[in-house]
Amino acid sequence: MPSTVPATSMLHVVDHPLVRHKITLLRDRATPTKQFKELVDEIAMLMAYEATRDLALDPVQVETPLETAPGWAVRGKKLTLVPILRAGLGMVEGILRLIPSARVGHIGLYRNHDTLEPVDYYFKVPGDVGARDFLLLDPMLATGGSACAAVTSLKRAGATRIRFLCLVAAPEGVARLSREHPDVPILAAALDRELNEQGYILPGLGDAGDRLFGTR
Ligand code: PRP
Ligand code: URA
Repeated sequence: MPSTVPATSMLHVVDHPLVRHKITLLRDRATPTKQFKELVDEIAMLMAYEATRDLALDPVQVETPLETAPGWAVRGKKLTLVPILRAGLGMVEGILRLIPSARVGHIGLYRNHDTLEPVDYYFKVPGDVGARDFLLLDPMLATGGSACAAVTSLKRAGATRIRFLCLVAAPEGVARLSREHPDVPILAAALDRELNEQGYILPGLGDAGDRLFGTR
């Protein structure tokens, strides 16, 4: 029986037609590694547009060819992208093309195939953690174990403003992340039906890391 997403969850599904089109291509088992990588990059960039809607701005002045005009500059340096290794790496470059001054941290986690519990092996984020906005990146939110562990690590380091960006979410993962970290908004490109017994998302897209990096 598929589980449902709690009404109180902070889930926002980015259902722009371009995102829906590209997610469909991403799911296709016939999509080769090169195109898979390009699609993850493009979808992440499109989602970043939505995820940065309330990014802080500083007023600036700019000289047009005719006169001085008021304008705005994003405080990009305060934005920190944190991919969950490995698959989250595929989402970094697309967002950096929009916000080149963003900083990048890394969290290394993998799921134990038997217990499905996350095992962490790396953590590095820029200093001044309390003053930053974090976009935590991982294409897949399945049981939610990895996302919860990553958010816990970020909070332990002092982070207070965290958003989680994924491409495909399972209701189970949304429910767990919302329960354990109700302050963390979740942006997904698709909310799928359920998990199978091995913890894979259905219909999903398979193993995101393997498909991105051509491993098996
Ligand atoms: C995948 C995915 C997430 C995790 C999601 O990574 O990229 O990090 O599984 O599953 P969960 O919500 O049940 O924790 P994986 O553990 O396969 O590691 P990899 O990116 O190194 O392949
Ligand atoms: N991790 C993946 O890469 N895919 C899934 O379906 C679930 C977890």
